[in-house]
Amino acid sequence: MKTSLLNLASQEVPRYTSYPTAVQFHQGVTEKTYTGWLQNLPQNQPLSLYVHIPFCHQMCWYCGCHTNIVSGYDRVQTYVGDLLHEIELVAQKIPDRSNPVVQLHFGGGSPSMLNSEDFISIIEGIKSGFSFDKAIEIAVEIDPRTVDEKKIAAYAGAGVNRVSLGVQDFNLAVQEKINRIQPPEMVQEVVKWLRSAGIYAINFDLIYGLPGQSLDHIRYTIERSLAMEPERFAVFGYAHVPWFKKHQQLIRQEDLPKTNTRMQQAELVKELLVAAGYIRIGFDHFARPDDNLARAAQTKSLRRNFQGYTDDDCDTLIGFGASAISALEQGYVQNDPHMGKWRKSVREGCLPTVRGLGLSDEDKFRRAAIMQILSQGQLDMAALCTKFGRDVDALDDAIPKLQDLPGDDLFHLSGRKILILEQGIRFSRNIAACFDPHWQPVAERHSASV
Ligand SMILES: C[S@@+](CC[C@H](N)C(=O)[O-])C[C@H]1O[C@@H](n2cnc3c(N)ncnc32)[C@H](O)[C@@H]1O
Ligand code: SF4
Repeated sequence: MKTSLLNLASQEVPRYTSYPTAVQFHQGVTEKTYTGWLQNLPQNQPLSLYVHIPFCHQMCWYCGCHTNIVSGYDRVQTYVGDLLHEIELVAQKIPDRSNPVVQLHFGGGSPSMLNSEDFISIIEGIKSGFSFDKAIEIAVEIDPRTVDEKKIAAYAGAGVNRVSLGVQDFNLAVQEKINRIQPPEMVQEVVKWLRSAGIYAINFDLIYGLPGQSLDHIRYTIERSLAMEPERFAVFGYAHVPWFKKHQQLIRQEDLPKTNTRMQQAELVKELLVAAGYIRIGFDHFARPDDNLARAAQTKSLRRNFQGYTDDDCDTLIGFGASAISALEQGYVQNDPHMGKWRKSVREGCLPTVRGLGLSDEDKFRRAAIMQILSQGQLDMAALCTKFGRDVDALDDAIPKLQDLPGDDLFHLSGRKILILEQGIRFSRNIAACFDPHWQPVAERHSASV
């Protein structure tokens, strides 16, 4: 593998689930700012809602999510009560509650930690504050170790029609090194329950670059997964950020695959999934050709939000729960990640906003360029400049940065048009970063690009 490509693969770049990224958020955006934005929500604009459940039974040592380990259920129960209150507080700020909710996503942590009664009470709480669209997609992230057949039936009864299962890797040797023992048979059984409850839209989350993981482990994980026929795969490179997530220090540096191996692992995943008929979506998703995400990729309507690639076209995403981020046309707001402080605000009848960012026209312009690179793999800079009423050279500062990348193999740059090649898709984040004036190649801020 060329050294230039290896250097690029180990470069730390944002995941661009938002632009500007959360690094740019500041405390100048407050509850008052958020209230004003909510009060100005355009009538009838479709909404996407996100509910964060920051609890798990056991810490996976690789975990980069915002979660808390609990042994009993008391803290979860208390949280649900406060969450319902927060939902009500936010709903009250929206003048016309007829905006159709087209997407409702439960993420975490592990939303599947909720018992069925609490899960249903959250859905009911949302229904009383918001209007559900008839075709609403209700999605839940499931840790297969936390569900049984009854819970799955309750999900189906509550309208859940999409799920994502945390699979990661099927080999015991790898599972031991990440503190997550989860036999393939367990996942197989959950898939069976889901399908018999009528939930067919199933995603598997997999990770490469895990400690002790070899190419054979990857091959085995993919083969066992394919036998279960999920509709989608999200395949993440392990983001090792031990300076930020201290428990990752339990993973020994010497057990981690080197960049060269990570690249081969990512390539093997792609080969096996594409050979099995899955369509590659952006830099980390794969979907069956009849899946909505694959259709969105084909019709160039694919987008990115805090959950990664999505086919939802909402300009407004409202997040509930500790640490949740909301995205509105005016900007981003983040809830307090500290559970106690989040709870205190909610109990005092205040929105738990701690930081955020108001979007300038320049931010929106740059965001459009970055999202097009990541979602469509191409960008006509001049056309985008014209669309935003800018001079055609307004993005030209990216050109020398693009020229510094090992471009022959990754993309074609012709005038102001850039087209990412098949072998460049994996490096889309590096390419997108050329359009990000905030990004700097500093260590210990983001994860490696591949
Ligand atoms: C909120 S979890 C999914 C639901 C549930 N908590 C579970 O793990 O089964 C989201 C996903 O993020 C991915 N993930 C978590 N930490 C990661 C890391 N450090 N690097 C890459 N992917 C990570 C895992 O694939 C995980 O399934
Ligand atoms: S990966 Fe999922 S189950 Fe594991 S600790 Fe993180 S959020 Fe919890």
